[in-house]
Amino acid sequence: MNAPRSPGVAAADAHAATALSPHRFSVAPMMDLTDRHARFFLRLLSRHARLYTEMITTGALLHGDAPRFLRFDPAEHPVAIQLGGSDPAALAACARMAEDAGYDEVNLNVGCPSDRVQSGRFGACLMAEPQRVAECVAAMRATVAIPVTVKTRIGIDRDDDPTRLFTLVDTVHAAGCDTFIVHARNAWLDGLSPKENREIPPLRHGVVHALKRRRPQLTIAINGGLTTIAQCREHLRHVDGVMLGREAYYSPWLLATVDPELFGEPAPVATPAEAVERLLPYLEREIAAGTPASAVTRHLLGLFQAVPGARAWRRTLSEEIHRPGAGGTTLRKALAQVVGTPPDSASPHAVGASASSRNL
Ligand SMILES: Cc1cc2nc3c(=O)[nH]c(=O)nc-3n(C[C@H](O)[C@H](O)[C@H](O)COP(=O)(O)O)c2cc1C
Repeated sequence: MNAPRSPGVAAADAHAATALSPHRFSVAPMMDLTDRHARFFLRLLSRHARLYTEMITTGALLHGDAPRFLRFDPAEHPVAIQLGGSDPAALAACARMAEDAGYDEVNLNVGCPSDRVQSGRFGACLMAEPQRVAECVAAMRATVAIPVTVKTRIGIDRDDDPTRLFTLVDTVHAAGCDTFIVHARNAWLDGLSPKENREIPPLRHGVVHALKRRRPQLTIAINGGLTTIAQCREHLRHVDGVMLGREAYYSPWLLATVDPELFGEPAPVATPAEAVERLLPYLEREIAAGTPASAVTRHLLGLFQAVPGARAWRRTLSEEIHRPGAGGTTLRKALAQVVGTPPDSASPHAVGASASSRNL
């Protein structure tokens, strides 16, 4: 179960190691998934993966419990906050709060298709309003020194013409945004649920590659449907970065291959068990501060898959962890049920069904 220690980057990549894009590999913003506990855990598996928060709306940040939304552990760097909104002044105020809190980047969501988001006129429907997105970006850029980036789709509804994407990118670039993360699917705004909108509109990675060819000076990261490091490497021949969502979350051991394979550096941990050991002090600290143990351990369910004891690992972390007093001892017990696993059967390449086969 060892993470590869040998540098897997090609010679040319290694030569350019210092110039690798900070967006070369990132874990996508995901509501209810990429909270601060998930990010702390994922950071144990890769020093280089860029991590994104869940989307936080400007309303929540300006009128809600801002310290709770903004909180993160210094170990999470590099970490980006994703904002949802369409009012330039509100976004600028939130960007300032994010910068003051220490985030490395502010990302604007121009890709979320949910009804709730559409009624607030932000998310994917903003693809129809490039000028407004540009105003939002300009207002944030005028307020903060950290990079302001945009995550978008390749189009909306059944319009397969990439012109809308290209126009959006050019308009927003003129307002000072140099980095675009593109989910290579249209958002169908007429009746699909957010989950369906991540599965039914066809993936068209070629549109994102075409965007990079068209505007080579921009940093373009591709997102959508990537499940292996081999796929990441292939896309990195065409774009500057790859962003993984579901696969990174549901098969997190994949992240232990990111530093060796994509950055030419050793993995920070050699085995999943080592990652769990390194999480234990954090878990104890959080419990002492009043966090339920399950809020941390729920993100670990996919760490062991298709190995003896994996089912018991998940059961212990789904059931026993909720009992009063459960914590580090319960996590150790769960771990004891999988350690002793034969090394090869749980290598980072062997674990995990692909996200597309799961009911997400
Ligand atoms: C549970 C869940 C929540 C998500 N929440 C967000 C979000 O808050 N902001 C966002 O830009 N995208 C969100 N997404 C979309 C992902 O960032 C990503 O674009 C999408 O899952 C496609 O990438 P993947 O195929 O690697 O998962 C979410 C996806 C999932 C599965």
